[in-house]
Amino acid sequence: PGDFTLKGRGAASVVVLGAGVAGLTAAYELGKAGYDCTVLEASGRTGGRNLTLRGGDRLTELNGPAQDVRFGDGVYFNAGPGRIAPWMVTMDYCRELGIPIETFVNTNAAAYVHTNGRTVRNKTARADMYGYIAELLAKATHQGSLDRRLTKDDRERLLEFLRRFGDLGPRLAYEGSERRGFTTYPGMGGGTEIAGPAGLHDVLAAGVGRAITNDFGYDQATPMFQPVGGMDAIVARLTEAVGRDRIRTGARVTSITDLEHGVTVAWEGGELTADFCVATLPPHVLAKISHNFGQKVTTALKTPVPVAAGKIGLEYGRRWWELEDRIYGGVTETDLDITHIWYPSYDYHAQRGLLVGYYNSDEAAQLYGALTPEDRRHRALTQGKKIHGEKYRSELLSSVSIAWERQPHLQGGWVRWPSFDSSFTLLQRPSGRVYFAGDWLTHLVAWQAGAMESARSAVTQLHQRAARSA
Ligand code: PHE
Repeated sequence: PGDFTLKGRGAASVVVLGAGVAGLTAAYELGKAGYDCTVLEASGRTGGRNLTLRGGDRLTELNGPAQDVRFGDGVYFNAGPGRIAPWMVTMDYCRELGIPIETFVNTNAAAYVHTNGRTVRNKTARADMYGYIAELLAKATHQGSLDRRLTKDDRERLLEFLRRFGDLGPRLAYEGSERRGFTTYPGMGGGTEIAGPAGLHDVLAAGVGRAITNDFGYDQATPMFQPVGGMDAIVARLTEAVGRDRIRTGARVTSITDLEHGVTVAWEGGELTADFCVATLPPHVLAKISHNFGQKVTTALKTPVPVAAGKIGLEYGRRWWELEDRIYGGVTETDLDITHIWYPSYDYHAQRGLLVGYYNSDEAAQLYGALTPEDRRHRALTQGKKIHGEKYRSELLSSVSIAWERQPHLQGGWVRWPSFDSSFTLLQRPSGRVYFAGDWLTHLVAWQAGAMESARSAVTQLHQRAARSA
């Protein structure tokens, strides 16, 4: 996707509901084409789930205590989106808006894999799995078990590949490899390889499949990127480009009435009528607002299921993961309820640093979300200590945690569609003069790119119609 521009000028008025990434993108693109936009936002800030927390911020939750963020200068926590794949339209907006980006280390072979109570480096887990898989397949090939599928040339080529893939010995056995890593790395001496590997049975029993295939996904591409200084740079630049005077915060919408010649939107303290409306609120929130969309649309809005998601930022006074573990960015994958630990991909070798101590969803997120911030931290530290030892607890400076299902006006990390059925496609088209937009309307649920793609689709449809009736 290149730069996006609506062709020709528009003059209609548009009320945009929600100043998250979808709402801001819609208002930005409509504004570029000359439309008169007003953005209504229920919370006190723009950005929605694009939230970066820094020292001095205060985070509130539904039915829970507020958390005061105490991070030191330069330390930030992307509590929502944190990584961008290069093919995503989010990159185009970073470029267009002049937002500097830097590499986000998504895959780091030096990070850990923690399964069944044991911790190994990602590179060790890969070397052993690849090694044994290669050995089994090479032996089956060599013994002729695959002859119905393979020609003689195929067999030679496959064996040649498997020798490299698994770093196999002369008899096609996996006997360990320096790919597993070293306890002392080579230098003046030859280094000391990590003891092992365990036998095939134990390596299979470790169950590292999910952990070592994460970056196989097209969405978790390597390399990924992040805006320098925090993901909310995208929000700041979009907000500026839309114009602060066009955005009304603290305006919780109470009714949406689709009329023959316009749309009337009321909020606590005001009301306005515009030619069109772009509604970007989460579907489960939108469904509960008084409206006249009709039964089919209401049912469709109630179809996607909100999913709980949570993260905790753990600030340390010393970057021990760099100094001691030699982990510079990346992710440790676990089978614990914390799921992942993210190491920061910025300010390497600085004094302080911030880890993401859990990033989970569904049941695990619900479990943490139901706890007080202190209990979340306590639980996250107990889990992380299993991987990193006592310093994980003793060297902590401060923390802040978010449970997205407990965020006012959002009530979820993202949604899950039971199936991408006719409800999904119905909402991709307008209901009268009301257009819907949000990551929830795309196959990129839980990505800013989804919010942006869907905003582009909504404003394109709106613009074509406005041009026809002008
Ligand atoms: N985009 C989010 C991430 O990077 C979450 C997510 C991805 C959720 C894919 C659902 C599917 O982890």
